[in-house]
Amino acid sequence: MKTLTLIKPDDWHIHIRNGAVLKTVLPHTAKQFARAIIMPNLKPPVTTVAQALAYRDEILQALPLRSSFTPLMTLYLTAQTAVSEIKKAADSEYIHAFKMYPAGATTNSDAGVANISGIYPLLAALEKNDLPLLIHGEVTDPNCDIFDRERQFVDSTLTKITNNFPNLRIVLEHVTTTEAVDFVINAGSNMAATITPQHLLYNRNALLAGGLRPHYYCLPILKRESHRQSLIKAATSGNPKFFLGTDSAPHLTHTKENACGCAGCYSAHAAIELYAEAFEHAEALDKLEGFASFYGADFYRLPRNTDTISLTKTSWRVPLYYGDEANNITPLKAGEEINWKIL
Ligand code: DOR
Ligand code: ZN
Repeated sequence: MKTLTLIKPDDWHIHIRNGAVLKTVLPHTAKQFARAIIMPNLKPPVTTVAQALAYRDEILQALPLRSSFTPLMTLYLTAQTAVSEIKKAADSEYIHAFKMYPAGATTNSDAGVANISGIYPLLAALEKNDLPLLIHGEVTDPNCDIFDRERQFVDSTLTKITNNFPNLRIVLEHVTTTEAVDFVINAGSNMAATITPQHLLYNRNALLAGGLRPHYYCLPILKRESHRQSLIKAATSGNPKFFLGTDSAPHLTHTKENACGCAGCYSAHAAIELYAEAFEHAEALDKLEGFASFYGADFYRLPRNTDTISLTKTSWRVPLYYGDEANNITPLKAGEEINWKIL
């Protein structure tokens, strides 16, 4: 049987929510990953160190017995964030980054940033304190075509940020376009990017294959095939600027199968297996360990993990949902087979 052994991976971008959903989804991530960067877009958003520490405690309480999973906390950047809070975050061993959402760009982003130059003092404080800024890179102009929002953000906002703050450490999250990939490649070593499994496995046709398919809807939205090819090339290139970040984003099934469905794909149930499929298709399984287990830790200046996980080439069928019948989450590839399985 074909087996693949890797240093245990980390997920550098995930939504695990709180309350009942947290309890459903956390075991999936804790089984596969040693650590994960936890997104702060709760309702209300996690904007202070005190809130992040309380959220961290809730996560630790929800972990399966004997789990050694470590949540890496982030704070949600708003126009009201105090410079003193940035300093406090930098001094905390538990806070690893700030997340910036353009206001209105995605789920729970209302408290995000509407005017980038208005937060320059905060970006200066992040740069000075050497705390990474994690960016949801899409413009929010409703007149901008949804497929162009990332490219436009890179051209306008991201260029401005990197020109003004050349030493700011930035992760451009969930890149989806050739333009974003090229920008990251050409930027300094303080700029990196995460790539999701859905953007490696699917192009935008998946959204409309024989009908409207809400479980493939996430933001940034799936793009055309040429962009997917650029992402595959970047992820499998061995360039340490690109690393694993699932952006697994659970929403209850009825809120996605809805006249106005929520954005987010749930992938935590099979994250490393989904990446293994994508890397295998690209004949680059030998590049998976760097992408999944080394480069993110190096960027965040954390030690690489030493435990290992093994995958076997065994197919298994993904359940139709996780949770109970009334409140559940439909995973990516629900009811379909996946060819790799964690031992
Ligand atoms: O599809 C998405 N879902 N994109 C995001 O940026 C946020 C996420 C969520 O929190 O549901
Ligand atoms: Zn996200």
